[in-house]
Amino acid sequence: MTRDGIRIHEEADFAGMHKAGRVAAEILDALPEFVFPGQTTGEIDRKITEMIDARPGVVSATIGYKGYQHASCISVNHVVCHGIPGDKKLKDGDILNVDVTVIVDGWYGDTSRMYVAGKLSRKSERLLQVTHDALMIGLETVKPGKTFGDIGHAIQTYVEAQRMSVVRDFCGHGLGQVFHAPPNVLHYGRPGTGAVLEEGMFFTIEPMVNLGRPDTKVLADDWTAVTRDKSLSAQYEHSLGVTADGCDIFTLSPAGLFHPTYTPE
Ligand code: MF3
Ligand code: CO
Ligand code: CO
Repeated sequence: MTRDGIRIHEEADFAGMHKAGRVAAEILDALPEFVFPGQTTGEIDRKITEMIDARPGVVSATIGYKGYQHASCISVNHVVCHGIPGDKKLKDGDILNVDVTVIVDGWYGDTSRMYVAGKLSRKSERLLQVTHDALMIGLETVKPGKTFGDIGHAIQTYVEAQRMSVVRDFCGHGLGQVFHAPPNVLHYGRPGTGAVLEEGMFFTIEPMVNLGRPDTKVLADDWTAVTRDKSLSAQYEHSLGVTADGCDIFTLSPAGLFHPTYTPE
């Protein structure tokens, strides 16, 4: 069954999403020890690949997706999203988003969080806090009868009140037994607009927040999206299902490490 082109899932489907979401979250939980100055994003991606390969029945959703060749996207500093893991070494104070999507028994678990190499600056700490809170505010809005515009509006209003900006060029998405499905989940918008949320809809919320202007551009590799003004960017992502009275988050961190991933001073 679909509503407004959005699949309405059954009770039993929630279990499949929990299993997939948990695997993705457990992989992110294991990463802090691999993030330090001098480390390469390619090496972090190799650790992720090893963890996926060590789990029977788990496969990466991103390897082979539209020609993408890695088990993660790792987006450092002014990279907004879809950063390609590579040989560049992390520097002290670099902030990075690691985004992992796995398929387990046909269900997709998609989540990302922020990490820091070495010491976090005050400026970056504020960006990470605001971005995390923006996701939480979006999640709190999820409930049958609300609209996707209500979610975007809540996130945008909060972020802009902190004098930061919300990226318009990338959005969250429906998912389930597919990686990307309707609707586009915008992280900005007007209340009451867009499709009405219904129990059984599965989607991600994954706001990207910039310290400067919202504008982005995609580099010549056709993947890496960066802020046009080179300002720092952050992102947090959960996969969720709409329940009778709110939402069920599939990608909660079993270790309680979603935010902060680093040890606060
Ligand atoms: N995980 C990303 C998302 O949140 C999509 C990455 S697609 C890739 O939707 F091919 F770049 F990996
Ligand atoms: Co996503
Ligand atoms: Co993702």
